[in-house]
Amino acid sequence: MKGKKGIIFGALDENSIAWHVARKCVAEGAKITMTNAPVAFRMGKIEEMAASIGAVAIPADATSITDLENLFQESMKILDGKIDFVLHSIGMSINIRKAREYDDINHEWMLKTFDISAISFHKVMQTAVKLDAMNEWGSVLALSYIAAQRTFPYYGEMAESKALLESFARSFGYHLGKSKKIRVNTISQSPTNTTAGSGVKGFEYFYKYTQNMAPLGNADADSCADYCMMMFTDLTRMVTMQNLFHDGGFSSMGMDPSIMNS
Ligand SMILES: NC(=O)c1ccc[n+]([C@@H]2O[C@H](COP(=O)([O-])OP(=O)(O)OC[C@H]3O[C@@H](n4cnc5c(N)ncnc54)[C@H](O)[C@@H]3O)[C@@H](O)[C@H]2O)c1
Repeated sequence: MKGKKGIIFGALDENSIAWHVARKCVAEGAKITMTNAPVAFRMGKIEEMAASIGAVAIPADATSITDLENLFQESMKILDGKIDFVLHSIGMSINIRKAREYDDINHEWMLKTFDISAISFHKVMQTAVKLDAMNEWGSVLALSYIAAQRTFPYYGEMAESKALLESFARSFGYHLGKSKKIRVNTISQSPTNTTAGSGVKGFEYFYKYTQNMAPLGNADADSCADYCMMMFTDLTRMVTMQNLFHDGGFSSMGMDPSIMNS
């Protein structure tokens, strides 16, 4: 990671997956800026966490093109050059927060969920292109969840958000690959005990279920950070337009006799 420059979205507190990624990338020699929504600067610990690893934190609502333009411009100044890697680690659903059932969804909130959790990924990449803010052979990554492919009843419209997010990775992966040799992927992560994860109804039971179902158990935030970092290194420079499961094997399981009998 030495010499690489990155922008990491989504570190709210020490549990955030983005925080694990930020720490590891800096420990391995990368220079980064960290960012989150202005409200997270007030509620969370991003500034304190960034300072502890010598990084600058820049507020940006990921749904605002103006904020994103400022973020990329400031980051290029602070890091003294173009960006090599970007992590989009953003998710939020008011319907989930307010425990709305799937057949009683507020559609205004649903659109907000799509904007924050998925369309923001397109906005980030489009802004990077327009500002010519990324180096060739760069890497762009977002975090997803298997509800994009299979039904998880309490995940609300976040399921469709993740499907959209993964589709943006494939579509933009084509354009960025052709124009700049930049790769775009999503990592589909196990249930993880964070603010976003534990906000989903029944999280504790579900976490135990997937822990037992995955042959390796649930992948934690720290191992997710290892995988993310690998995707930013040159070792994965030919991997693009993929949704990569990081889930201890859960996604390939059909049934496990030990769970059936318990
Ligand atoms: N925790 C899990 O079980 C799990 C599993 C699979 C995928 N993921 C995904 O991982 C990513 C990170 O989530 P996490 O689990 O670390 O939880 P988290 O709550 O720590 O991170 C979510 C982040 O999104 C940020 N955010 C919300 N609205 C924003 C906006 N308008 N602009 C910019 N940032 C905004 C929040 O401030 C927060 O930092 C999300 O995409 C989530 O869906 C999480």
